[in-house]
Amino acid sequence: MPFTPNRKFKQSPRLIVGSEGVHYDMADGSRVLDGIAGLWCVNAGHRNPRISAALKAQIDVLDYASSFQIGHPAAFTLAQRLSEMAPAGMNHVFFTNSGSESVDTALKIALACHRARGNAGRYRLIGRERAYHGVGFGGISVGGIGRQRSTFGPLLNGVDHLPHTHDLARNAFSRGEPGHGIDKADALESLLALHDPSTVAAVIVEPVAGSTGVLPPPRGYLRRLREICDKHGILLIFDEVITGFGRLGTNFAADLFGVTPDLIATAKGLTNGAVPMGAVLMRDEVHDAFMHGSVSAVELSHGYTYSGHPLACAAALATLDAYTQDGLIAQSAALAPYFEECLHALRGLPGVIDIRNLGLLGGVELEAWASGPGMHAQAVAQHCLDNGLLVRPVGETIALSPPFTLERRHVDQIVDTLHAAIKQTVQPASAAA
Ligand SMILES: Cc1ncc(COP(=O)(O)O)c(C=O)c1O
Repeated sequence: MPFTPNRKFKQSPRLIVGSEGVHYDMADGSRVLDGIAGLWCVNAGHRNPRISAALKAQIDVLDYASSFQIGHPAAFTLAQRLSEMAPAGMNHVFFTNSGSESVDTALKIALACHRARGNAGRYRLIGRERAYHGVGFGGISVGGIGRQRSTFGPLLNGVDHLPHTHDLARNAFSRGEPGHGIDKADALESLLALHDPSTVAAVIVEPVAGSTGVLPPPRGYLRRLREICDKHGILLIFDEVITGFGRLGTNFAADLFGVTPDLIATAKGLTNGAVPMGAVLMRDEVHDAFMHGSVSAVELSHGYTYSGHPLACAAALATLDAYTQDGLIAQSAALAPYFEECLHALRGLPGVIDIRNLGLLGGVELEAWASGPGMHAQAVAQHCLDNGLLVRPVGETIALSPPFTLERRHVDQIVDTLHAAIKQTVQPASAAA
């Protein structure tokens, strides 16, 4: 099983057998509130009727069609819909099947774009510490999680990393974007001075780092990155696999921050998790760089058997309808202030050293436990699950990313359950002393 202690799991398997709305049904008969939207993806709620109906209808019409030198209409309709949702000027889309594939595709497009423009000398990629960009070789190379990198050896050449932006000393218990840390973006200039900016192809960041603890960007940070990239002709990639499609109350994080990257990697919420799919959105200038030479030549040697799969397209089109026509992105935005208020009420509990939030993303960071890294968060998450709430332990942080269909009473339930779990499981160092 992925990212799982397999032997421990088999000793006491936790099996999900059904889902509806904001709940999971477990094999032992219990019902669990889904505080993480599956795995940051089921934004429109489980078994959303629109999406289920679209999938049932699609399977009886067209099961599969290749996207290699032939196509089917829904893929083009979906690409059109995505470009209408995307920030202005991002009118082109490449379909993948996952976040990892979207990240690797975005990195490859960035490299190929420079080459297509005659700049083959731009080969370096810059990621960031504490970044998660999936599990492809590109993604783990630009990713910033030591254990995920060191397991596999040297990875890609020509990669460097910005410092992460987490700063407990200056920013603990910030609501939304923390006030300190724009200087962390200036570190890009230092890296460029080190490597020669004319060798750098792209910078990739998650606008809000998710899997390493829900880290909203410091105020002004993304804009500063954009400015530095522009100054040096470097492409900026946002990995919006989590933040895309309404998680922050806007279509994309790019909209919330008012910063338009050159490429956006998406997946997860694109199909509400119902069928694997990802998409890379790109600016017209990036797309246009490939559109020269013989019209019979393949412009980009890249793609997947299941790029633009008909079932995935059907799920995505229905999901986008749920987000827009059913008002779920607006619902996400409307609930966010209550979510923030309730989450920050956990401040002051023993062992809680930080609370972070943006949109419907939340993180509660716990003091490290002497028994090992992440043990507090794991114990709290287990206590929550035993008491009807699914949350995600990531390092020392409990991550929250609930479906947008959540009601206030569910937010109350999340916070009450977390409150009890923290009180009963966390052993702060001060108490042990
Ligand atoms: C920001 C980000 N990028 C990429 C990925 C990888 O997505 P997938 O697991 O679909 O390959 C994830 C998954 O959590 C993610 O959070």
